Amino acid sequence: MATPLADITSHDTYVEGVPHDTFAYLRANDPVHWTEESDGGRGFWSLTKYDDVLFASSNAEIFSSRLGIRLEDMDPEETEARRTMMEMDSPEHTRLRRLVSRPFAPKSINGYEEAVRDLAAQVLDKQRGNTEFDFVATVARELPMRMLGRLLGLPDDDLEWLVQRGDALIGNTDPDFTDYVVDQVDTSAYRLLPFRSPVALELFEYASQALAQRRIEPTHDVLSALLETTIGGDTLDELALQNFFTLMVAAGNDTTRYSLTNGLRVLIERPELYRRIPAMAIEERKALVEEMLRWSTVTMHFRRTLTQDTELRGKTLKAGDKVVLWFSSANYDEEHFDNPHEFREDRSPNDHVAFGLRSSHLCLGAHLARLEMRVVFEEIVKRWETVELAGTPERLRSNFIGGMKQLPIRVTWI
Ligand code: HEM
Repeated sequence: MATPLADITSHDTYVEGVPHDTFAYLRANDPVHWTEESDGGRGFWSLTKYDDVLFASSNAEIFSSRLGIRLEDMDPEETEARRTMMEMDSPEHTRLRRLVSRPFAPKSINGYEEAVRDLAAQVLDKQRGNTEFDFVATVARELPMRMLGRLLGLPDDDLEWLVQRGDALIGNTDPDFTDYVVDQVDTSAYRLLPFRSPVALELFEYASQALAQRRIEPTHDVLSALLETTIGGDTLDELALQNFFTLMVAAGNDTTRYSLTNGLRVLIERPELYRRIPAMAIEERKALVEEMLRWSTVTMHFRRTLTQDTELRGKTLKAGDKVVLWFSSANYDEEHFDNPHEFREDRSPNDHVAFGLRSSHLCLGAHLARLEMRVVFEEIVKRWETVELAGTPERLRSNFIGGMKQLPIRVTWI
C-alpha cells in the first residue's frame, strides 16, 4: 500500500499517541488489512471496523482465544503453561467464568460504592495543600489496586508491592516498569510464566499464602468467596486460583488507572464540562464515564486465532491465521459513531467496545471499573475548583495498553 501508514505493531508508535489517521485510512480503504510483523512474526489480519470487531467478538467458535490474546506467538508448551481464563474457549472458559463471576456482578459490586468513595476521599485528601502534582502517581495509580485489595481482603501494607507487580506484568514492554522488556531483552527463561514474566511466580506464591490463611480462617472477601464457590460439585483448584489472582492483578490495575487519567485529560481540555459535573444527574454522570471509556479505549486490541477459513469483506482468511480486533479503531468508526473524534458526554447510544462487547470474554471487572471512575470524578469535583495541565503528559510504550504514565496537573482546592 503506497500510503505512509504508521507501524501499528510497534510499541514505539504509541508513545506519540494512537495512530488514528492510520486506522481511519484502513477503515476506509482496507478494513480487513494484512499486517506484517517487523519482529519476524508470521503476520496477522487487522480488523478495524466496528461491525467486524463485533462479529469476531461474538463468534468465539470461529475466533478462538486458546492460542493467545496478544500479538506474540507462543509455542504449544508456552500456551498451555501461561493460560488464564482470557486464553480459554468454551466449554473450559464457560465453566471457569461461572465459578468466578458472582463477586463481580453489578449486585455485588454496587455494595462497594461507599468503600470506593472512602478510598477516593483518602487518596485525594492526601494531596490536600499540594497544588502541583502528577495525577497518575498520586491518584490514578493508587486507587484501582487499593480497591481491588479491599475486594480481595488484602492488607493495605501489601498494596504498593502489588501495584508494582501489576505494572511489571502488563507494562512488560516499557523499561520504566520492568527490567524484563519483552522485545528488548532475552525473556526466554520466563516463557512458561503468565505474561512471560518472573513476576508471575511471586504473585502465585502470594496468592497461595493468602488462600492458605482463608482456608484456616474464612473471611468475607472475594478470595474466600472463590474458595467456597461450588457449582454442581465443581470448584477451582489451586493453580486456577493462582492464575485468576494474577489475572486480576494484571487486568484490574492499569486499565482503570489509564481510563481515569485519559478521562481527566478530557476534563482539563473542557473546563466548562468539568464545572457542570456537580449538577449532573447520576445518569448523566454514568453517560460521561461511558464516553470516557470509548474515548480512552485503554485496551487497544485483543487477538484471536481462526478455527476455520472465513470470508470477510471479500478477503479469505485461513484457519490458523491470527486476527487482531482493534478496539481502538472500532470505537472511532465513523460509520458507527457520529463524529467519533468529538467527545460527547451525552452520547447515546454509546455501545463502545472498550470492555469488549457481545463477547463471552466481556470484561469481568467492567462494573467495578465504571463505579470507580464515576465515584472518583464525583469526589474530585468536590475538592478541586479548577484543574489544568502543569507539564507535558508522557505516554506508555505499548501497542496493547493505551495510557499516560504521567499527567502533571495544577489544581486549586475548594
Ligand atoms: C477501565 C478499565 C478496564 C478496561 C478498559 C478493561 C478492558 C477489558 C477488555 C477489553 C477485556 C477483553 C474483552 C473481550 O475479549 O471481549 C477484558 C477482560 C477482562 N477484564 Fe477488564 N478492563 C478493565 C478493568 C478491569 C478490572 C477492574 C478487572 C478486575 C478486577 C478486570 C478483569 C478482567 C478479566 C478477568 C477479564 C477476562 C474475562 C474473560 O476472559 O472472561 N478488568 N477487560
